[in-house]
Parts: sequence; C-alpha cells; structure tokens
Amino acid sequence: MTDKLQPNPLREGLSIKAVPQPCAVVIFGATGDLTHRKLVPALYNIAADGEMPPGVAVIGFARRPKTDEEFRAEMEEATRKFSRQTVRDEVWAGFAKSLFYHQSEFGDEAGYKSLAQRLEQLDRESGTRGNRLFYFAAAPDQFETIVQNLRKAGLNKAREGSWARVILEKPFGSDLRSAQELNRVVHSCFSEDQTYRIDHFLGKETAQNILVLRFANAIFEPLWNTRYIDHVQITAAETLGVETRGGYYETAGALRDMVQNHLLQLLCLVGMDPPTDLAADSIRDEKVKVVRSLRRFTPEEVRTHVVRGQYTAGAINGKPVVGYREEERVDPKSQTETYVALRMLLDNWRWADVPIYVRVGKRLPKSSTEISVHFKRAPQVLFNRESQVIEQNVLAIRIQPDEGVSLRMQAKVPGTSFRVESVKMDFHYGTSFGKASPEAYERLLLDAMAGDPTLFARRDEVEQAWAFIDTIEEAWADQEHAPQLYTYPAGSWGPEEADELMARDGRRWRRL
Ligand code: BG6
Repeated sequence: MTDKLQPNPLREGLSIKAVPQPCAVVIFGATGDLTHRKLVPALYNIAADGEMPPGVAVIGFARRPKTDEEFRAEMEEATRKFSRQTVRDEVWAGFAKSLFYHQSEFGDEAGYKSLAQRLEQLDRESGTRGNRLFYFAAAPDQFETIVQNLRKAGLNKAREGSWARVILEKPFGSDLRSAQELNRVVHSCFSEDQTYRIDHFLGKETAQNILVLRFANAIFEPLWNTRYIDHVQITAAETLGVETRGGYYETAGALRDMVQNHLLQLLCLVGMDPPTDLAADSIRDEKVKVVRSLRRFTPEEVRTHVVRGQYTAGAINGKPVVGYREEERVDPKSQTETYVALRMLLDNWRWADVPIYVRVGKRLPKSSTEISVHFKRAPQVLFNRESQVIEQNVLAIRIQPDEGVSLRMQAKVPGTSFRVESVKMDFHYGTSFGKASPEAYERLLLDAMAGDPTLFARRDEVEQAWAFIDTIEEAWADQEHAPQLYTYPAGSWGPEEADELMARDGRRWRRL
C-alpha cells in the first residue's frame, strides 16, 4: 500500500504507513470529558489538516436525549475551546456534517440494533464502506455490557471486505487480575487483531522518535548498554493537580495512572533491542521483553526502592493551591499517592546493573516529561592535575514541552587557562522542522483507521506491566507493614525521601 498521509519527517525511515480508510467511528461515552477535550478536537484537526480519509462519519453514542444538531453545537463549543488549531468556520461546517448522535442506554439491546441500521444507512449515504471503529470512551465497568451488546447486534463482525475494530481507553484494569478479566471480556467478541489499546504517550511525536534516534543513527546504539551507560532517568512532572478527576484518581494513584502505562511504555522504547523489522508485532515483541526483564520487587525492596508521596497545600506559579486531601471527591484521609519515584533494574545483558530511575508527580513546579541517559564518565586521569571534575555526558530526550534532544558534553573554556566546562548541543523540533506536531490522539485515530497497531499496547505488554506494578501495590496495601506515604508541598519537586533514593547511590535527579 502507498501512503497518502503527509510525510512526517520524524517517522521517515520508520515505517511504510498503511492508509486510513473510510469508516464509521462510534464513540461510546460521547458526552464525556474525553470526547469533548480530546477525541472530537483531534478528529477536527485531522480534517483541518486535510488528512481525513473520505467517507468518515462520527457517531456519538450516549444515554442523554439529544438531536444531531444539538450534538454538533456541543462539539463545536468543545472543539473551539480545546482544539490545537484555531477552528476555521468553513472547515467546521464541512466537518460538522459528518457528526451524528445516537441515543441509547449502554445496556439497551435495542439501541445497538438501531445503531446497526443507522450504520448501514451511513454506508449508503456517507460511503463508510461497512468499516466500523468502536471507541470505548466510557467507564471500564461498562465495557462488558457494550461488548456483549455489540456482539448481539452482530456488530463485532464486519461484512466481507470490511473491518470492525475496537479502541479501548485506559484505565485498562486496576491490577493483573482485572486486566486479564477485561481482556477475556473483550476477546469474547473481538480478536487481538481487532483490539487497539490506547496509550496516548505512544502517539506523541517525541516518543515515536526514540526509535529513530536510536536505530537510524549509528553513533548511539554501540554505546547503549551497561558498559557505557551509568543510569537512566525518566521524569513526568505536571503542575496540574487532579482537577475534576478526584473520584477516579482515588482508585488509581500515580502508579496506576501514569507508571503502569505511559512511563513503562517510554522505558520499553528506551530499553528495547532493535526489532527484526518495523512490523507492529516485531516492535511489540521487543518491547514486551523489556517489561518481562523488569526485576520484581520483594516487599522489603518496595520500602527501599520506591517512594510515594502526596501533595499538601502550596503554590503553583505563585498561586495558592489546596492539598490533595482537600480536592473535590477525595477522601480527607486519603492514602492515594500523587507522586512516585522508583529505582528499577532490568535483568538482561544490555542493562545489567544499570539503575533506571523513574519519577512522576502532580503539582510539581513545572510540567515536563523527559528521558535522560547518563553515560559513564570519561577517565579522569588527564585532568587530575587541574583538579577538575569531568561531568558525565547526558543525552536528554525532551518528550514535552519544547520537544527535542540535547547532548551534554565537555568543552574547553576559551582562554589561556585549561578549564573544562559542560556545554549543550541542542536540537528543537520546532525550529528544525518549523511545524507543530499533531496531538497524540490525531496520530492514534488515523493509525486505527489504517489498521496499524504499532503504537497501541498489546495484551501481553499490558498484563506484564500489571504483574510488575502489582508487587508494589500489594506491599502498599499491607495494613501492618506498608511503607510510609510521604507528603510534599504543592509546587515542590516531591518528597525529600525521593532525593535520598538517589543520594544513596551517589546520584541526583536532573534539574528540569
Ligand atoms: C493521563 C493521566 O493518562 O495522562 C493524567 O490519566 C495525566 O492524570 C495525563 O495528567 C498526562 O498526559 P499529557 O499528555 O497531558 O502529558
């Protein structure tokens, strides 16, 4: 197949992309936050960039009564508020014609039968060609009901020459057992080939670029192992608190919300071996090996290798903010962590004895996601006389914001003395390519329409990640011996104990 998409310089050499196809995108949970903030704005931006395949119809499925016109007006308001690009009236007018609303309870079989009829009508009128993309943006406890009703209406099977796919939003389970159960439910009606599990970090340009950086440049891969790398740090810092999501967050916490999925996915991209080719499963085969190599913690190691924290009242950008326990729909005695720092090891030849430090937190002073690879120091011998410390080379991959890559190296300070200082070679996507990166959801929706699962999490990846996370959650859940939950004021870089975690190894967190 040839690629009709705009060539994207960051993906060049990565894969020959499949073509997004005409289809009906049915969104379950169409009146929810995700649809308003992310999905419909992403679909609009795809259309505005001229990348939408012809014959795409978007059907919002939800329980509140609403006409197509009302749904369009609501989506317009949301898109104007949350869209990456300013909404152009003429583009919106065209796009809005492809939006429809289907009112039904998730549990009402008749609603799915009428959906099936409506989709057939759209095949005739809008050219959606019998292709169906079911987007589960509803609460996970609704998944089983939706899946079963789709099956009863015959919608999990496409007619000859067409396809039916399902996109599942996180959280994908809350532990290994529930994830396996969810997989069982989904696979009772849809095969793994039809199942697309979203991890929106994989759709970020810079996350995709990790593979290009590593495997399209000859100079990094020979050094990418325990002989040359001292340690790796991965940070996902947010200034945001839990906003309106207190209810959900109370059941998740930072470990489930961010580490199990996004952070472990980034670790896979940094840690994996080169795949045999660029097919989706070749890449995912290598990624899953990384999660499988993660050394599981004993309860005692959870105490020493993992630090959890919760924010108290403080200030963000000079404005006072409340503590986590004062947030809406949060238990005033909550033990939920809003920060976590971990010291992990990968038991394989490439990474033996290289510590991987991961930290994520809400209400930190800055929003920034970064991976830094810290190389071992060059031998000091030549500079001993000058009593100068030779710093490590650090390769920093900025996932967001200010996407780019920088390399810290040593240089001689100009002048007659022989002084060495650290300098930075810096590459910024914005200035080098001069165009804004699409939102992760744009990339992922197009990939699902094209049938390319590379940037989606496979069943075994998700389950292996839970198996690792469970060891920590279980230690935390131990009533008698659970390690302490530390606190940190909003606007600080997390609990001091997280700095001690590094200091014990003679290291410190990188300043972001
Ligand atoms: C989501 C988490 O998956 O990712 C949120 O549930 C978090 O808590 C968000 O804020 C971060 O994503 P991004 O793309 O805004 O960095």
